Amino acid sequence: MLENASFQQEMFEQIHKKEIFDRVKSYAYNYMDTVGDRNAFPTDEAIKALDIFDEPLPQIPIAPDEILRWLHEYGSPATVAQTGGRYFGFVNGSSVPVALGAKWLADVWDQNAALYVMSPIVSQLEYICEKWVVELLTLPLGTAAGFVGGTSTATLCGLAAGRNELLKRLGWDANADGLFGAPNLRVIMSDRAHATVFKALGLLGLGRKRVELVPTDSQGRIIADTMPQLDDRCLVIAQAGNVNSGAFDPIDEICDRAQVAGAWVHIDGAFGLWAAGSRTKKHLTRGIEKADSWSVDAHKTLNAPYDCGLILCKHREVLLSALQATASYILNSDRRDGMQYTLDMSRRSRVVELWATLKCLGKEGVEELVDRLCSHAERFAQDLRSAGFRILNDVVFNQVLVAGNTPELTQATLENIQKSGECWCGGAIWNGELVIRISVCSWATTAADVERSVAAFVKARNVEVL
Ligand SMILES: Cc1ncc(COP(=O)(O)O)c(C=O)c1O
Repeated sequence: MLENASFQQEMFEQIHKKEIFDRVKSYAYNYMDTVGDRNAFPTDEAIKALDIFDEPLPQIPIAPDEILRWLHEYGSPATVAQTGGRYFGFVNGSSVPVALGAKWLADVWDQNAALYVMSPIVSQLEYICEKWVVELLTLPLGTAAGFVGGTSTATLCGLAAGRNELLKRLGWDANADGLFGAPNLRVIMSDRAHATVFKALGLLGLGRKRVELVPTDSQGRIIADTMPQLDDRCLVIAQAGNVNSGAFDPIDEICDRAQVAGAWVHIDGAFGLWAAGSRTKKHLTRGIEKADSWSVDAHKTLNAPYDCGLILCKHREVLLSALQATASYILNSDRRDGMQYTLDMSRRSRVVELWATLKCLGKEGVEELVDRLCSHAERFAQDLRSAGFRILNDVVFNQVLVAGNTPELTQATLENIQKSGECWCGGAIWNGELVIRISVCSWATTAADVERSVAAFVKARNVEVL
């Protein structure tokens, strides 16, 4: 009993003295001030130093100072400098400063976003962000949004809604009766769909392999003319932004075919759907409003802090029905109860950062951000081409695929870049060939960062593997 009392006293002291938080602030400021000059990927030495974390579970409490010092001294040097301007790996966005500030505040609030009664403020911001995102992306009025960790989960939710609705129209209640004995559905998409789409299909009992794959062109776009005959058993999945080339499927044409047939269309627009917010890029998303559901990440192109994704669904009741969970203790309200729109019950209040990002950028700021990322990508392509590299995609958005004149040269360039710390890019196989992927995804990237990174490419090509 005495021990419990002293434990609680210690916690109260930690909260009230603010020393912990002052320390965190100074470590965080140090990180912010140095991230622009850091190696884009940690040094071997920083990674080796992580061994210190491999210790037995402490048997006694450890002082807060010591815990935070470890994170600062050993953790921070082993981060990738994703919030700097020279990280071009995967499709990883940075974070808008005020959104990060909002996240700090929301972390102090420590709200559970499941229900209105758990957090009226979070419920209100979810309601607002749903409206704002629907307007920004020019989706049909009344489209519902669920706030999830990322596009993987969003896609799972969207496809669950689509699966259930198609089966319902065929007289089958998948929610109640599962899939045993259910009418067969067909899934139509291309083999250029993102890996997480295949994962969702596996999880939903639709099968990773039962898909009818539609041929694609050299950019990875579905060739609409070669789509099979669609019917009302079809779940059609298109993408707004291929993870490698950035190419957009011909969404308008695909949706037209699907609508006539009574099929459901889901669009994976993890990073590309934000093109709808730019007057110069909007044409890429032509026809998106005709789809039934969409997945998109705010932590990518929009630069909201991790993790922040959205499932958007034109048919609110269908989404709610797929994700329903009830119990006598779950107090639903006549306001927005966030858990009805997502897989999770308990969730952090990620919408606080999304709201701050949208309010800070506004429509104009989103457009400016999208356009800037795309123009840096174009600049990359231009300068690398001038330096003798081959660019293997049409740079329509923020992705650039680069190769040297031989596979060996591409491999050596990639390895050298990754080791140099000057910038960081990943690799992929594109149309059978190794490529270096550049994804311009951070508001912090400047023209000087692009120039410095191009110089790093040239240097990396000209040396033996480091
Ligand atoms: C097209 C596409 N779909 C899905 C995903 C997965 O998104 P997340 O990592 O947010 O789950 C990505 C990630 O880059 C992507 O580019």
